Amino acid sequence: TLSVPNVQSLATSLDKSTQIPERYVRPEANVDPIAPTNQIELPVIDLAKLTDPEFSKEEAAKLHLTCQEWSFFQLLNHGVPEELIEGLKADTVEFFNKPLEEKMVYKQDNDGTLQGYGQAFVFDEEQKLDWSDLFYVMTRPVALRNMKFWPKSPSTFRDNIDRYSLELTKVASCLWHYIATNLGVAAEVFAQLFKDHPQGMRFNYYPPCPEADKVIGISPHSDGTGFSILLQINDVQGLQIRKDGEWIAVSASPNALIVNMGDITEILSNGIYKSKEHRAMINTQNPRLSLVAFHGPDDSLMLQPLPEVVGDGKLNYGSMRYQEFMKAAFNKKLEGKEKSILEKL
Ligand code: SIN
Ligand code: FE2
Repeated sequence: TLSVPNVQSLATSLDKSTQIPERYVRPEANVDPIAPTNQIELPVIDLAKLTDPEFSKEEAAKLHLTCQEWSFFQLLNHGVPEELIEGLKADTVEFFNKPLEEKMVYKQDNDGTLQGYGQAFVFDEEQKLDWSDLFYVMTRPVALRNMKFWPKSPSTFRDNIDRYSLELTKVASCLWHYIATNLGVAAEVFAQLFKDHPQGMRFNYYPPCPEADKVIGISPHSDGTGFSILLQINDVQGLQIRKDGEWIAVSASPNALIVNMGDITEILSNGIYKSKEHRAMINTQNPRLSLVAFHGPDDSLMLQPLPEVVGDGKLNYGSMRYQEFMKAAFNKKLEGKEKSILEKL
């Protein structure tokens, strides 16, 4: 990993007349990410309905269709306490607003593990760069936490990350249950696959940019996880999904959890659910902050379509250990869906 400029500082140093450095100019961006008319509200899944015997069947059917058609949805009534979400949002904003030197105490080690404060997926001098900074920590299993990367300030940050991490494992278990059932697989099979709840959290900071239509916050990619759970920290929209070949801007309610299926679910489900390419866009006015929690399997899992799903049908993917899959995914630039990797399986 090469070190590149801090984007938040770079953005602060620009005024309306200075041009942004060439390395950030992306001819393919060329969209107006804040025009609300272009935004489509993500489909809603209601977790309270999903678990209510009276509505469960109907909501589970909706979940199945949404996973097939969109691969993304906003989860409402998810049970994560409002007070916790508000606290975590405030801490995240406060952290990124600190002076650069204070954040650099937590900077990445540059050993490719991504943990800490910095930027991701930078491999060569020519590569186009994303208009964002990130802060990444492994949160589960708890034994794998490296506390040197957990900010001591704001004083409530560590505890809020820890509590949120635990809350999300409950949400994840519940979702796996219904996803398994929808795929015709015993819920215990998925519970076993994701039993230790490996989980990492990536906090994203996207500064505003005077030439917002020329930059991209996060390059197109699909997530190498089971699923990811995204929280938009300051209610600024900017997520785009590639659906039927077109980029569409999507929006979600303030405290919704945006869930998207990852490559691992695509493989396990033999392609019934496909991970979708997405990217994050920038606007001229406001910083955008988001938090993605990745929920993957254990490193040792042998990735392959589940026999219960395949039945007598055709296998659409081969097999590979999750660890190998992730190694391949992390050792390249983000450039669209991990096709190259999936094809090798
Ligand atoms: C991501 O895909 O990692 C982030 C998306 C977002 O910030 O909306
Ligand atoms: Fe993503």
